[in-house]
Amino acid sequence: EKGGWPSFMAKEVAEQPDAVANTIRGRVQGDQVVIPELDGLDELFIGIDRVIITACGTASYAALVGKYAIEQWARVPVDVELAHEFRYRDPVIGDKTLVISISQSGETMDTLMAVKYARERGARTLSVCNTQGATIPRESDAVVYTHAGPEVAVASTKAFSAQITALLLLGLHMGRVRGSLSDSAASDVAELQALPEKIAQVLAEEQEHVAQLAGWMADTRSVLFLGRHVGYPIALEGALKLKEISYIHAEGFAAGELKHGPIALIEPGQPVFVIVPSPRHSALVHSKVVSNIQEIRARGARVIVIAEEGDAAVLPFADEVIRIPLTGAMFEPVLAVVPLQIFAMALATAKGLDVDQPRNLAKSVTVE
Ligand code: F6R
Repeated sequence: EKGGWPSFMAKEVAEQPDAVANTIRGRVQGDQVVIPELDGLDELFIGIDRVIITACGTASYAALVGKYAIEQWARVPVDVELAHEFRYRDPVIGDKTLVISISQSGETMDTLMAVKYARERGARTLSVCNTQGATIPRESDAVVYTHAGPEVAVASTKAFSAQITALLLLGLHMGRVRGSLSDSAASDVAELQALPEKIAQVLAEEQEHVAQLAGWMADTRSVLFLGRHVGYPIALEGALKLKEISYIHAEGFAAGELKHGPIALIEPGQPVFVIVPSPRHSALVHSKVVSNIQEIRARGARVIVIAEEGDAAVLPFADEVIRIPLTGAMFEPVLAVVPLQIFAMALATAKGLDVDQPRNLAKSVTVE
């Protein structure tokens, strides 16, 4: 039931503080992450020399955030591979490879086949799934459930933030077991626990602002999204949401790729969303993104910036600034994606489209 919301998607976007809180619940002990479902798998986490995360669509963007987090905390190399690519080549995997699959439904055929393929090749398998007892977790050695609750709208929102949360938990769990966490891990755990409240703050403070932006962009034919580091997968996700429900051409890029091609697309009036990483985490990465903004602005782009509160460096070059609260470097994606979800929804609504049932798409893709 929509419970008074105009759409399931609107309801599910609003439910994200709960989706994330429920995914964290029971998995933090003191200032450490301990995922009870993974009890007994310490040997496995210590013994692996490689992780491959496989998924499709939105789940594959959560996977990309997971790559950064698991490499940072667990110090093991991580590759992300689309499930439908993974199984049609001859990947180098074995019993020291952990293949993590991510799926909201747990029934996506491409992802399921990738998991089976990995198992046949001797890899260990772990699934991150939102649906209790679904096929993918049943086919995996272990499962970490996201507890986002049922997701009805075709476009994934709360399942995505819960997937990122589960991967952050997994990264901190694996890092603890492998003994590779730094002294700042306790503050990362605290940041993780503060996420639900901060998502609620973004919803409360930016909802109307972002919806207004969509109003003046209803005739836009193309929107670009740029990000760096963990902001890059969010740029991809922002573009996918817009394609899916607004039927507007959209592309996400790693900001550093601009000068390698995409900057040729920039002409006066072109809307570009830029996800700006906090200068507190890396002044260098932040300054690189600010200079990317300058480059596109000089060519007439209409720049909409998503930046943390107090970041004044973006102000001279931004047409619009959407603010997110301060958080840890790995946690920014969970906050930055929220305005992009709202934007896609508002734009679809401005175009008179049904946001819950976009054309040509099914909630669960059970065919290859
Ligand atoms: C995007 C979307 C799809 C799914 C993808 C994987 O909004 O809904 O891209 O994320 O089909 O689905 P699951 O997670 O069920 O495997």
